[in-house]
Amino acid sequence: MGRERWGTKAGFILAAVGSAVGLGNIWRFSYVAGDSGGAAFLLIYILCIFLVGLPVLLAEFSIGRRGQQDVIGSFNTIAPQKPWVLGGILGVASSFLILSFYGVIAGWVIFFLYSYLTGAAGAVGAGEYGDFFGEFIGGSVGPVFWQVLFMTVVVGIVFFGIKKGIELSNKIFMPLLAVILIFLAGYSLTLDGAADGLAFLFQPDWGAFGDPSVYLAAIGQAFFTLSLGMGAMITYSSYLPKETRLPSAAGTVVVFDTLFAIIAGLVIFPAVFTFANLEPSDGPALIFITLPEVFNQMGGGGTMFGILFFFLVAIAALSSAISLLEVSVSYAMRKFNWNRKLATVVVGGIVTLVGIPSALSQGGPLTDFTIFGHAFLDAVDLLTDRYFLPLGGLVIALFVGWGWNKSEALRETGLTDSVLGSIWIWFLRIVAPLGIALILIINFL
Ligand code: PHE
Repeated sequence: MGRERWGTKAGFILAAVGSAVGLGNIWRFSYVAGDSGGAAFLLIYILCIFLVGLPVLLAEFSIGRRGQQDVIGSFNTIAPQKPWVLGGILGVASSFLILSFYGVIAGWVIFFLYSYLTGAAGAVGAGEYGDFFGEFIGGSVGPVFWQVLFMTVVVGIVFFGIKKGIELSNKIFMPLLAVILIFLAGYSLTLDGAADGLAFLFQPDWGAFGDPSVYLAAIGQAFFTLSLGMGAMITYSSYLPKETRLPSAAGTVVVFDTLFAIIAGLVIFPAVFTFANLEPSDGPALIFITLPEVFNQMGGGGTMFGILFFFLVAIAALSSAISLLEVSVSYAMRKFNWNRKLATVVVGGIVTLVGIPSALSQGGPLTDFTIFGHAFLDAVDLLTDRYFLPLGGLVIALFVGWGWNKSEALRETGLTDSVLGSIWIWFLRIVAPLGIALILIINFL
């Protein structure tokens, strides 16, 4: 049997956009931007996306399409018996670990969606969403139940394969996401705090440019949001036929992902600034406590806004989780010679189990079980975000920049003899590795 294939190029691009657009663009982007001062962060983040993110994304596309296998297999095919396969191993490890806690946070999202649908979330009193959220994540059944439910849907989609599962679901999800997002942004911009929200997002406080932590946050966010360094994009592009043009695909993914994050900012910050007692810098709880407070103060429309918002976040998370699972599934299919259905159920089951300690670590029974002083979920998050992802990205940039025969890499990308091709290679050789090495060093210190 031949390798599975995407039905169309558009299907592949939608799936790659689906992978990129996720909790990262809404939950993570909004709290990181909120914590790091808004506009200054946004500017540096966009620079990181184009200087480091785009070249590395294109590198991942080239590796996968050339390798025609899962991440580890692809490295081994292009550079047999070389240490570059470390990039693949890191990819499988990080996507697996990230999915374990991604499913937990997505579970919280589904819980909120459900609570808005039943009216329970709408009925919480003003100022009490902190307790509402705290009580939920501190439970021992709730967080696991919603995590398992979410993971079951993820497994259910990957089970049907590239064309009938992943491509089809993204063809439905992505347009839906765009419509809801634009509708919510339009509404948010009519609120009283719109001008303040826009200023927060677009008028930089120049002092923030001197703060190194803003750069760190920006590059970390760039990797996470583009799904880089964990093999997802390599795996997806391995299902492409030879003719597809990669640079335009990479450009499209980057532009959509960035637009999506900015528009999500247009939904969130005007709303946050409309109600004076709330702060944009509330951290990871921003969308779970601050926003529900906002919805609460909106009066009648609040519940509707809440339903649409959490539905939006849920599908964004779903399409990303699918790509995370596919990395390990495609690896298991080759490595153990399993068929897709078996691989999906086994791998999906194990990731879900590994996520359970995370689900119980945020106030629940495993709160005191810490690793280097961090709760389980935070430990896994930090380990992958701070070390695995940048390291994986570094290996990929160095591999395509220095390890892989230059003319072959350019041919695979379709950039032979072009100025763009030379720029790309030099970005991978120098700019991206320096940028990534810098964060790694600071993270290790
Ligand atoms: N890019 C996704 C997001 O922004 C997260 C993700 C990372 C998905 C890695 C797949 C692979 O939420």
